[in-house]
Amino acid sequence: MSTLHYQTGFGNHLATEALPGALPVGRNSPQVCPYGLYAEQLSGTAFTAPRADNRRSWLYRIRPAAAQQPFEPCEDITDWNNAFGDGPVTPNQLRWDPQPVPTQPTDFIHGIRTWAGHGSPDEHAGVSINLYAANRSMQDSYFYNADGEMLIVPQEGRLRLATELGLIDIEPCEIAVIPRGVRFRVLLLDSSARGYLLENFGAPLRLPELGPIGSNGLANARDFQTPVAWYEDIDGDFTLYAKFTGGFWLARIDHSPLDVVAWHGTHAPYKYDLRRFNTIGSVSYDHPDPCIYTVLTSPSDTPGTANVDLAIFPPRVLAAENTFRPPWFHRNVASEFMGLIQGVYDAKAEGFSPGGASLHNCMMPHGPDTETFEKASKADISQAQYIRNTMAFMFETRRVIRPSPMALASSTLQSNYHQAWQGLKKHFNPAKA
Ligand SMILES: [Fe+2]
Repeated sequence: MSTLHYQTGFGNHLATEALPGALPVGRNSPQVCPYGLYAEQLSGTAFTAPRADNRRSWLYRIRPAAAQQPFEPCEDITDWNNAFGDGPVTPNQLRWDPQPVPTQPTDFIHGIRTWAGHGSPDEHAGVSINLYAANRSMQDSYFYNADGEMLIVPQEGRLRLATELGLIDIEPCEIAVIPRGVRFRVLLLDSSARGYLLENFGAPLRLPELGPIGSNGLANARDFQTPVAWYEDIDGDFTLYAKFTGGFWLARIDHSPLDVVAWHGTHAPYKYDLRRFNTIGSVSYDHPDPCIYTVLTSPSDTPGTANVDLAIFPPRVLAAENTFRPPWFHRNVASEFMGLIQGVYDAKAEGFSPGGASLHNCMMPHGPDTETFEKASKADISQAQYIRNTMAFMFETRRVIRPSPMALASSTLQSNYHQAWQGLKKHFNPAKA
């Protein structure tokens, strides 16, 4: 029964059953379901959302999700919150060293620390950006997030996501998305785990439109993997944690809520291997805008202006001629939170380590550091340059990303980040073009 099999595609209507004939035929809610199961719909978008955007699944489960005790406030999750601070935000560039793995027993949901964000679950707009570090699996407990979908970006350690809709295993350089409301628990497949967690309060992440790129390229739909149905039929004394309206709650439940024997629909968790990204870049001159690296996007109500984009900077070949090849100096109206999964990011020679993070907010100037600028200005660009063994990513949002009080107080905050650009010399000579 412990099947680690996946269905492929993005946004497709999928159907899967862990027992033969568990999916009702011809109707979603028959008078009596096969195997004595209960039918339950889980909606991730408004009932009337356009077909292309609509997300909902029908679950056929041993007990309905309502079979649980009342929730009470939960006091033991404090570092994960939607407290992004208020008042003015520093206009300085910010960068952090990697966070240490905890020394006390810590599971995934207790090891999440809010680093930045904006918006709120109440508005169904904005994001929270978090770091996680854990050293044990969730034991006798389960979790769901009513506030948003969760994009998990592992940096160290493999995770097994045991969800209502099936099992997903991910490792660094893979990502997983757990939709709003889906119940799950996180098991560590290694002694510890560390990474990044985006909580998306806005519209569900989707593949970006490809425009003139055509029908292939960037993250290809066929490479997204959604689990097949899998269930636990376990009675016991369990805790169900919930995140709702920025707060945490817990309820007793006398059985595993991961008891969905069959399901069909479009509201389902998925994984994607970032190493499968079809990277597109310039083969003539100039470095394209970073949106060319978009993996997934959560659109806002304003066309072309995302609630959040996930972009990556994967291994690639730089071939542009008569061009400064690394990312250029820039200031954006959008705000950028970056992390590094492995290797070196090509705009920084040092100081941006795997597991670390940086934040360049609206109109904060940034770009290559002094060493990278000097090197790239003198590089032999008659030859292609191969960037290997790297994987950086960026959460880019339309609104200012407010660093959390915890992030600003952290000992990992680098006080000397501005030095990255202090060595840039004046090369200007009005007598020489
Ligand atoms: Fe940038």
